[in-house]
Amino acid sequence: MFVSIACNVLNKSWLLIGTRRGCVQVFLPNRYHKTVNKPSNYVSCSSQLSETELRDKLRVCSTTKELVTRLSEVFVQQGVPESRLSAEYIVATSFGLSRKQLLRGEPTLLSQLEPFYSTLTHNALRRLLREPVQYIVGNWDFYNLTLKVRQPVLIPRPETEELVDRILKFWKNVLRRGSTGEVTRCLEIGCGSGAISLSLLKGWKEFTGNNNILKVTALDIDPQAITLTKENACIVLEDEQKRLLDIHLQDITKFRLDDNKYDFLVSNPPYIPEAEYRTLQPEVIQYEASCALLGGKDGMEIIRVILRGAKNWLKTGGTIWLEVDPSHPKLIQDFLHKEPNVGVELLQVFEDMSGLARYCKLLVI
Ligand SMILES: C[S@@+](CC[C@H](N)C(=O)[O-])C[C@H]1O[C@@H](n2cnc3c(N)ncnc32)[C@H](O)[C@@H]1O
Repeated sequence: MFVSIACNVLNKSWLLIGTRRGCVQVFLPNRYHKTVNKPSNYVSCSSQLSETELRDKLRVCSTTKELVTRLSEVFVQQGVPESRLSAEYIVATSFGLSRKQLLRGEPTLLSQLEPFYSTLTHNALRRLLREPVQYIVGNWDFYNLTLKVRQPVLIPRPETEELVDRILKFWKNVLRRGSTGEVTRCLEIGCGSGAISLSLLKGWKEFTGNNNILKVTALDIDPQAITLTKENACIVLEDEQKRLLDIHLQDITKFRLDDNKYDFLVSNPPYIPEAEYRTLQPEVIQYEASCALLGGKDGMEIIRVILRGAKNWLKTGGTIWLEVDPSHPKLIQDFLHKEPNVGVELLQVFEDMSGLARYCKLLVI
């Protein structure tokens, strides 16, 4: 079988980030950095590689360590970014190990692992076609949780962990002052894999103690996201916590609510501006759902819907937490100035770990 491999030779924007929780390194296609400066700089190349040829290249190795090095060389030759890390994850997952186990373990004699070679070749070919390593591995760590990830649902990003952390810290302070009832209600718009809702539910007790219960409504327009959130909820939540989560297939542009019942709203909406979307890495464009990323011409389409709806969905004094593009805080401020009737005020803008204005905290007035 011959596989045609398209690769972007100018791709330099993959990130290697150490997690704050000191676990393994995190390897992610960065949604927020362009692959190249302008679309016209985008240079594609293609190469032919047979499955047999790839298998033969890998078969000469006698230990997993050699295998990682060899596969990494193949990835470099084919222009696959973060070649070493990709190779480590792919070798590990093909042999049913975590990357940590692979790196810690003694080099294994591969003659004993013959049955796994077809899985390895299959996985390596997927990566050569620029599939994100997270989809190949099938799960990924997010804020103390290991979540299933599956194409085309958005792979949770480390930037979003920071948003969760800020929300939990904020509520810890609010609840410490005793300024709320026994139940806090949260609305998440665009739950994807469930990363935000599930980590809030898991972290709530730890952060806020036993005196307050968090109830979450998680919405998404994509049935595949809803299915994945449900699967992840079954994996990570205890039975008692599952009852605190409502998951609904819902287009937010058609969401109506009679009583203002939520205390806060959180969303990592699709917010990439159209022109920027075209410059993103093949891993993102070819594998992740465009509806999870594209926010219209200026990236603000869903953000405007959220701002216009917030007063109807939240209690007065409720907070809105958004992950946004760095160009958005100013656009949000202008929008709220132009449409004062939406009844929302921009309270704070926070930077992410790369120093980019990434999170907005707003208040329903
Ligand atoms: C950037 S992803 C965020 C996923 C997840 N919350 C996370 O942080 O990993 C945006 C999500 O919004 C959903 N979405 C897009 N348009 C929507 C709409 N009109 N109504 C509800 N959800 C929408 C997408 O399907 C996608 O799952």
